[in-house]
Amino acid sequence: MQDLFDSALSAFHNAHAPYSAFRVGAAVRAASGRIFAGANVENASYPEGNCAEAAAIAAMVAAGDRQITEALVLAAGERLCTPCGGCRQRLAEFAGPDVPVHLCDPNGLRRTVTVGALLPLSFALDDAGHDHGTRSAVDMIRARRPDFAPRVGLVLGSGLGGVAAAIEDAAAIDYAELPGFPRLSIEGHAGRLVLGRMAGVAVACLQGRIHLYEGVPASAINVLPRTLKALGCEILVLTNAAGSLRAEIEPGAIALIDDHINLLGRNPLAGANDAAIGPRFPDMTEVYDGGLREQARAVATRLGIPLKSGVYLATLGPSFETPAEIRAFRALGAELVGMSTVPEAISARHCGLRVLGLSIVTNLAAGLAARTLSHEETLAQAAAAAERVKRLLEGLLEELARDGRNPA
Ligand code: HPA
Repeated sequence: MQDLFDSALSAFHNAHAPYSAFRVGAAVRAASGRIFAGANVENASYPEGNCAEAAAIAAMVAAGDRQITEALVLAAGERLCTPCGGCRQRLAEFAGPDVPVHLCDPNGLRRTVTVGALLPLSFALDDAGHDHGTRSAVDMIRARRPDFAPRVGLVLGSGLGGVAAAIEDAAAIDYAELPGFPRLSIEGHAGRLVLGRMAGVAVACLQGRIHLYEGVPASAINVLPRTLKALGCEILVLTNAAGSLRAEIEPGAIALIDDHINLLGRNPLAGANDAAIGPRFPDMTEVYDGGLREQARAVATRLGIPLKSGVYLATLGPSFETPAEIRAFRALGAELVGMSTVPEAISARHCGLRVLGLSIVTNLAAGLAARTLSHEETLAQAAAAAERVKRLLEGLLEELARDGRNPA
């Protein structure tokens, strides 16, 4: 928070408030990690001045960011300074209800509240805010490929971005161009939506994902499955890199995700629910579609690609697990461990997508092999499996194209 505080304090000192003599500085952190600051700027027709929060948000928007992950407001005086009604709305336009707003004076933090606490009524608007992002992202995608209706969405995990090379007649759109889409900070994740055909099926491929350990609110994930659903997808295939908790699911293996355990401590559906998207309490008895898993197994057998399966446990990360945690996770019934997939799977089931999950096993989990873990090894191992993953996906898509329920 110190960097946000320092930016707001410097803006506070630069504020132009000769009429009220009440300086305010504000700073917002965007999903990209960039910080934007603003100060209040008054003029002789006071109260026609601009608020500090509005200035910070405007700078963020002008720089191309659309999502606030943290905000800070700073003013001097005994009374706690909170955003005005208009600025609460401005914040809610770009921030979910969980986003913290630190209320400070020049000496430091006085209180932290959330956007939700500042503006409870906005949580129609929170969802609307995300919807608004979804809708305009959908509009932009449709404008780019007007006659294109994807049937299958594909999320490519760490090291698997190259699978997108198998997409024919491809049009790529950077996430940065899509309102509400996350900015990615992790090596191995390109951050592009690729539209095209794979094995004859119209696909929308999310090349790169956002992880909760990047500091985004869990609800930021929803835009991805919901956009794919709004574009017409019926199926979402989620891939990831994972550690294995079982020696027989060896590094290099591809494993179907049978079920998951959510130990992220977060859920993308927390906050107000929009019943038009899905139910308040969605059933999670079969997150990973039994029919799709059966089809994937049949395709793998036909192609001679060994396919394991297991229960995937999601941790927040970004630190890898300790050996004691891995022993505990085994006792819980986990066979694969990673830091992704579960939020997208929950969000996708909520909006009515059928989900298939594939883990590429990049390592034995902590304590199970006599070596330490690294992201570089994850990327290298996943890249080594990418050709097999691509063949499996192509085989599966051919199968889906034949299946009358999923026409190409
Ligand atoms: N733990 C968590 N995430 C991972 C691992 C792991 O061992 N391997 C690849 N992603």
